[in-house]
Amino acid sequence: MNLVRFRWILQWVILGLFVIGSSEAAFRHVFRTSAQDGFAKRNRQLASAQKYDPNYKGQFQLDTSSITFSDGILSGILQKQVPGNMEEILFPFTISFLKDGSTRFQLDEKRRLEGNVDYDGAKIRKDRFDVAQYHDLGSRIHIDTEHPEVTTHNKKLLKVDYGNNQQFSMVLHFQPFMIEFLRDGNVEVVLNQRQLLNMEHYRPRSERSQKDESLGMWEEKFDNILDSKPRGPESLGLDISFIGYKHVYGVPEHTSSLSLKETNNSETGYTDPYRLYNVDIFEYEVDSPMSQYGAIPFMQAHKVNSDVGIFWSNAAATWIDIEKDASSTSTHWYSESGKMDVFIYLGPTALDVYEAYSGLTGRTQLPPLFSIGYHQCRWNYFSEEDVQTVDNTFNEVDMPYDAIWLDIDYTSGRRYFTWDEATFPHPQETLKKLDSNGRKMVVILDPHIKNDPNYFVSKDLLENDFTVKDSSGVDNYNAECWPGDSIWVDFFNMEGQQWWGDLYSYDRFKGSDKNLFIWNDMNEPSVFKGPETSMHRDAIHHGGWEHRDVHNIYGHECINSTYKGLIKRDHGELRPFILTRSFFAGTNTLAASWIGDTLSTWEHFRGSLATVLTNGVAGMPFSGADVAGFFGNPDPELFVRWYELGIFYPFFRAHAHIDTKRREPWLYGEPYTSMVRNLLGIRYRLLPTWYTTFRTTHMTGLPILRPQFLVHPADELGFDIDDQFYLGDSGLLVKPVLEPGVSETAVYIADDETYYDFYDFDEMKGKGKHVVPASLGRIPILLRGGNILITRERIRRASELTINDPYTLYIAVSGKTGSASGELYMDDGTSFEYEKGAYISRKFTFNDGVLDVFDTHPHPQSGVRYAESMKHLKVERIKLIGDNHQKIKIHKHGMSGVKSWDVKVNTDGVVQKPNLYLV
Ligand code: NOJ
Repeated sequence: MNLVRFRWILQWVILGLFVIGSSEAAFRHVFRTSAQDGFAKRNRQLASAQKYDPNYKGQFQLDTSSITFSDGILSGILQKQVPGNMEEILFPFTISFLKDGSTRFQLDEKRRLEGNVDYDGAKIRKDRFDVAQYHDLGSRIHIDTEHPEVTTHNKKLLKVDYGNNQQFSMVLHFQPFMIEFLRDGNVEVVLNQRQLLNMEHYRPRSERSQKDESLGMWEEKFDNILDSKPRGPESLGLDISFIGYKHVYGVPEHTSSLSLKETNNSETGYTDPYRLYNVDIFEYEVDSPMSQYGAIPFMQAHKVNSDVGIFWSNAAATWIDIEKDASSTSTHWYSESGKMDVFIYLGPTALDVYEAYSGLTGRTQLPPLFSIGYHQCRWNYFSEEDVQTVDNTFNEVDMPYDAIWLDIDYTSGRRYFTWDEATFPHPQETLKKLDSNGRKMVVILDPHIKNDPNYFVSKDLLENDFTVKDSSGVDNYNAECWPGDSIWVDFFNMEGQQWWGDLYSYDRFKGSDKNLFIWNDMNEPSVFKGPETSMHRDAIHHGGWEHRDVHNIYGHECINSTYKGLIKRDHGELRPFILTRSFFAGTNTLAASWIGDTLSTWEHFRGSLATVLTNGVAGMPFSGADVAGFFGNPDPELFVRWYELGIFYPFFRAHAHIDTKRREPWLYGEPYTSMVRNLLGIRYRLLPTWYTTFRTTHMTGLPILRPQFLVHPADELGFDIDDQFYLGDSGLLVKPVLEPGVSETAVYIADDETYYDFYDFDEMKGKGKHVVPASLGRIPILLRGGNILITRERIRRASELTINDPYTLYIAVSGKTGSASGELYMDDGTSFEYEKGAYISRKFTFNDGVLDVFDTHPHPQSGVRYAESMKHLKVERIKLIGDNHQKIKIHKHGMSGVKSWDVKVNTDGVVQKPNLYLV
C-alpha cells in the first residue's frame, strides 16, 4: 500500500474513533491556535492591555504638521513611540476618497518603503507585500478629485465631506489618532477607536532579546517545524468598530454561523478569533472560527436598513477578534506581514456595498450554463468503462446531469496532464461520447508536481526554474503530496503562470478536448507533513516574497493561471469552468469553489448551509458542498436531505471519498431514487431562474443565495437566520430540513405578503413561523407573492439540450396588490458573445389581468442578431397563482411598438400555448 493511501486510511480509522458523534475534530492539534501564532499572541496582548491597563496608550502619534490634502487624497505621518527608543520611527499614511464612495486607508513604514533595511543577506524583499498592486487593482481604483472637500480643520481634527452628494464624512482625530466615517452625520465605522493600531517596525536581528523569544518574533516552532522569520516581527493590526451594528457577516471560510459570533467569549465557546489562513483541513470542526480552505478578508455589517463593509486587503495569515456590546460590534484585525490597506464602504444599502466591493475585487464570472447543472463526481471513476456505465445509467434511470468528474487516479501515477494508459486509453473517445449528450468532463490537476525526471511537466518546471524555493531562496521547495516527492509551481512568477496555463493547450494536455474542464484542488497549497498541512512560511517565491506574505493568495494565482490557460486554449471563444478549493478576494471572477472535506453527518450537512451563505455574502457565491458529504456513508435519509439542499447550492456536485461505498443517485433504490430524480428535476426546471440570478450577481456583486437580512433589511428578527434563504430576486424562499426524523418544519415569513407553496400553491400569510410539510424528498419551497417565476419544464439529459425549449411562467400575484413581476436573462451559455450584446433580457409584469413583456436589453440593437436566431423561443404555458382572471391580456412591447392579444385561462388557472414568443 502506498504511503498516501495509508495516511487516508489511518485518518479514517482515527476519525471513526474520535470524531463521529463529537463536534471536535481529531486533527485540531495540526492547526495553530492564536496562542501558538506569535504575531497573534502579540496583537492579542495589546488588546488585553488596552482593556485592563489603565495607563494603556496607543503607540502612534500624529505629526499634525505633516497633514496635506489634495486631489482626493489626505496624507500624513504617524510616529511610533517605542519606550527606550529615541529614534524616529515614521509611518506615512494616506486616506483616499474613491469615486464609488468608498475610502481607503493605507499605512506603511517609511524605512521599509525606502528599502533602508538589512536582512542579513536573505534573498527576500525589503518592502511589504501590497495585495492591491500585485492583484492589479490599481486599474479599478479611481480617486474622486471632485467631491471631497475639507470642511473643518482645527487643532483637534480634520473633517472631509465626500461622496456624490457629500453624504459621507471622514473625521480624522489627531490625539489620540482615530478615524471616524459618517453617513448623513451619523458615525458608522471607526478605525482605531480602541487604539490597537499596530505595525511592527523594522529591527535588526542583533536587537533580538530574551523576551522576544516567547513571543515568536525572530523564529518560531510549530509542530517541531521551524519558521526562520528572516525579517523578524512585522505584524500589523487595527481595530475597526461598527457603530450601532449588532450583526457582522463574511470573512470566509469558516463553518460558523452567518451572523458572526463573539470571539474570546465563553458564552459563544469561541476562544480563538476567526482565522484567515488557507489550509487543507480535513474533517473540520463545525461551529468554529478555525480557518478552512479559502480566505476573504471582507466583512459586512447590517442594521435596520443600513449596511457598511470593510475590505482588509492583506494575503498573510490574519486573525479577527469580534466583540459586541448592547448595540455595536468592535472587531480587531491582525496580519503577520504585508502593508496595511483597508477599504471602507458606507452603503447605505447592501447593494451599494457589494457593487463597490466587487467593483474593486471583481464581479463573479458568468459561468457556462452547464456548470450550474448537476455534477457527478467521486474519488474515483476508475476507468473509461466506469465512466461509460455511469453515463449510460443516468440515461436509463432518466436523470439529468451535466458533467462527470475524474479525481486524481485517472492520471498516470498522479502525474497531472497525463492519463493512466491502462484505465483511460481513449480519453478523446470518452469525451466525444459525453458530448453526444451535451455532457462534459471535469478532471483534477493539482499544483504540486511529482518530482520525477522522466515526467515532462516536472522536467519542464525544473528546467525553466518556475518552482517555489525553500528558505535558502535557491533550492527547490521539496515536500510530499499525492504523488509522493513533489515540487510546487510558483504562480508568483508571471512566466511560470503562463507556462502552467499553456499546459492546458490541446497539444500539451494530450487527450483533452473542448468539453473538458478543470478542477484545481490542494491549492492552499496543501503540503503533507508541512506546517499546518501547508507550505513553510519562510519558503520563497519569485520576486523575493516570502510565502508568509502571499499565502492566502497562492490558490488564487493558481486559478488565475489556469483561467488564462483555458482562455488561450479555446482562443477566447469559450467561457472556462474551473473548480477551486482555495480562494481569495477576486477568485469569484475565475472559478467556483466548494467547501472541502465534509463528513457525511447531519452536523456537517447543517454546517454547509451557513458556510455557503457566508461565502456568498463575502463575494464567493458560486459555492457548494459535496453531496452527500465527503467522508462516510450517509443513510438514505441524510442522502436524500442532502440532495434536497444540494439542488439549491449554486455549485451542485455529488462527491465522495475513495473509501466510501458507491453512491450514484440511483443506488439507494426506491423510494429514494425517485425522490432524487424529482429533486434533480427541480434544479433543471429552475435553470432559467438560476442563470438569470447568476447574471444579476455578475452585474452587481449581490449574492446568489440571499440570506433573510438582505431580502428583508428592516426585519431584525431575520438578521441572524441562516437556515433558510431566497434564490436571487426570484421570490423563491427555501427552508431545507437539516435534521433527521422530521416530516414538517417551520419556515419564517418576515412580512405580510402572501407566500405560495411551490408544490401545491397553498397560500400562507402572516409574519412569523409557519409549519410546512417536509416529508422526505420534499424540500419546503415557497414562492413569494408578487413574483413571476420562469422555468423550463422539460427535463433533458443535460442543460445544453434545453436552450431551445419553451418556458413556463408562474405568476404568483401579491396578496396586497394583485400584481407580480419577474425577469429572464438568456444567452448562448458558452461563449463571451454576451459581452457584445448577444443576449435576450426580458421583464414580465402582471397587473389587473394584463401581462406586459418588455425588452430590457439596454442596447437592443447589439442583441438583434442573436435574438433573430432565437425567434423560436416561446412561453408555452402560464400558470396564475392567487389570481382568478378567466382571461388575460398580453402586451408585448418591442422596438416596433406594442402587440396585444387576449388568452383564455382554464379552470386550473393555466393558459396553454399563449402564443407568446420572446423575440
Ligand atoms: C482533497 C479534496 O478535498 C477531495 O475532494 C479530493 O477527492 C481529494 N483531495 C483527492 O483528490
